[in-house]
Parts: sequence; C-alpha cells; structure tokens
Amino acid sequence: MRTWRVHELGEPVDVLTLEDVPSPSPGPGEVRLDVAAAALNFPDILMCRGEYQVKPPLPFTPGSEVAGTVTAIGEGVDTVGMGERVLGIPKFGDGGLADETLAAAATVYPVPATLDWPAAAALHITYQTGYLALHRRAALRSGETLLVHAGAGGVGSAAIQLGRAAGARVFATAGGPEKVQVCRDLGAELAVDYRRDDFVAAVKDATDGAGADVIYDPVGGDVFDRSRKCVAFEGRILIIGFTGGRIADAPTNHALVKNYSVVGVHWGLYNLMEPQLIRETHDELIRLHAAGEISPLVSEALPLEEAPAALARLASRATHGKIVCVTGSAAA
Ligand SMILES: NC(=O)c1ccc[n+]([C@@H]2O[C@H](COP(=O)([O-])OP(=O)(O)OC[C@H]3O[C@@H](n4cnc5c(N)ncnc54)[C@H](OP(=O)(O)O)[C@@H]3O)[C@@H](O)[C@H]2O)c1
Repeated sequence: MRTWRVHELGEPVDVLTLEDVPSPSPGPGEVRLDVAAAALNFPDILMCRGEYQVKPPLPFTPGSEVAGTVTAIGEGVDTVGMGERVLGIPKFGDGGLADETLAAAATVYPVPATLDWPAAAALHITYQTGYLALHRRAALRSGETLLVHAGAGGVGSAAIQLGRAAGARVFATAGGPEKVQVCRDLGAELAVDYRRDDFVAAVKDATDGAGADVIYDPVGGDVFDRSRKCVAFEGRILIIGFTGGRIADAPTNHALVKNYSVVGVHWGLYNLMEPQLIRETHDELIRLHAAGEISPLVSEALPLEEAPAALARLASRATHGKIVCVTGSAAA
C-alpha cells in the first residue's frame, strides 16, 4: 500500500515521500481502515515542519482524520465490525495520508450511507471542535452574535454553519473578496475582508456598539488583539489556533475591565478526558447533517498523490473550506 512519509522536517512539498509499505496489522484495541478519504488540516503542515505541539518520531505519516471501511480487527475489539463505514482519527504518526491506516477502535464512529466519503472525512475534527467550542466552552445562546475569524477556512466554515444551526447571528472575517463571498454563502450575515477593512468597526456598527458575544479565533496574533476591542460585555473569546504565526498575550486587566472571558479550546484533550462526549457530539453532528443544517464545504477532492501540493496551498492561504484526498473506489 502507498503512504506519504516524512523522514526529515521541513515544508510538506520538500519532505513528503510516497512509499510502498506492507499493509499494517492492527494491535490490541485497534482496527485497520481501507482509507476512502483523508481530510487535510493545518496541523498536518505544522507536523511536517516540526512546529506542532505534539511531535511524532521520524519517520511519520501525517493525516489526522479519515473516513473508510474496516478491513481488520485487533484483539479485544467488539465495538465495531468488519466492513463497517466509519470516520475517525488514525493512530498518531501512522496517519491517514495512505491507502490504509490503523486507528484505535475507541476513536472511530459510524458513518451512514447518506454521507459520501469526502464529506464524512471532513465532518470530524473541525465540526467537533466547533461544536464543543461553541456549546460546551462558550455556552452560545440562540440570538447571540458570533464572530468567526478565517471564516472561509476549515474550522471557520464549520463554525459559521454551527453558529447558524445554534440560532446565532453570525459575522465572519476572511482574507480577500472570494473568501468573503464564501463566508456569505455559508450563511454569515456580515463578512469583512480583514486584510482591507477594520472588522472592529464593522462588528460595532452591526451591533449598535455592543460587540460580539462570542468570537471564534483560529488566527491569533493581531486578530486576537483586535478582537478584544469588539467583544461584548460578558463575551467569550475562543482560542482555537494560531495560523497567523504569533501567539498573542491576553492582558488580564482588560478582561477584568470589560467583563469578558478568554476561553481555551483543545478538542483533542476531550478524547482523553471525556471520550463519551466526542461520541455524543458525533451523533449530534450526524443528526444536524441529516437535517440539512450543516454540510462540510469540500472545495477540492484530489488523488492521494497531490497531497503535498495541496498542503502547500493550504499553508499559503490559497484554499477555502476543506481539501480531501480520495483513494480507491472513492477516487474513481
Ligand atoms: N483548538 C483545537 O482543538 C483545534 C482543532 C482543529 C484545528 N485547530 C487549529 O485551527 C487552525 C485552523 O486550522 P484549519 O485546518 O481549519 O486551517 P484553515 O482555517 O483551513 O486555514 C488557515 C486559515 O487561516 C488564515 N490565516 C491567517 N493568517 C494566516 C497565515 N499567516 N498563514 C496561513 N493562514 C493564515 C487563512 O484564512 P484567511 O486567508 O481568510 O485569513 C487560512 O485560510 C489551526 O491553527 C489549527 O491548528 C485547533
């Protein structure tokens, strides 16, 4: 089977090599998946560069979410059956950018036949993160205003849809007119090109000066600094990521004076601390999808061979929504 591997750290296009390796065998508690679709995520780039918070030993295969069919079952697994359609998280370091991968049985979830493979692969990390961030961490209420930064991106596009599904008024920012239009198409009432216009003024204008109740921030740096200027009384700023490259400092006196909260979100930790919550959230996401309230924005479905070039485009902000690599019959 084919797998993309990193032997030394660097930019994905420079360090990923496509190799032929034997089909992996599942250990106790694991399943083998025939990968039909693997969704790309910003952390795949950070992992190749050696900049991700958790560093797999070399060589490793990136790819942190897949959808596919169970083709082998390890000892002690009784929660999932042979031939079942599932999505989930591959074993860390033996990731999903491959024809086959391994996953802990506890981290795979059933996928109904109504969900095609690319959409299934794209329904996990970004939607789980968005759902738990908005509902569990920020307690977003219907009628509140939600500002989503980098709204045309992977986590951003999911957050816009989930905010709408929760009954919020959704605003978004994005870089450039095409991405701004993507945010509008996803349901954002207000979309600001934050490379050109001041989102602080736009949010204040749209809320009669009150500001946004919840701010979803995958960018950090200057975007976080500016967000503090337009967060509402008792607002919540959700720290999702740092694609801008700088980790901002949060001045605690400002949080005190304006009565707002800076709320950390680390979705992966729920897999360890509260795995049942991930399963319940998965069921709710499947329900929301079936009800037509959310639908992953898969902008590109590409052959596995094109993964490094696609990661380069993701790193350079040239993409929107989710890019998914498809293999096997899903690629036909
Ligand atoms: N906290 C969690 O549990 C969790 C879970 C999943 C992902 N994340 C994090 O969420 C972030 C987004 O991940 P993603 O896979 O969904 O990526 P993405 O949003 O699809 O792509 C990143 C976007 O960030 C924006 N951006 C702003 N400054 C940038 C810069 N200097 N370089 C590149 N992009 C920049 C770009 O949008 P514009 O051009 O519109 O600015 C770009 O499209 C990552 O930091 C990831 O680690 C966190």
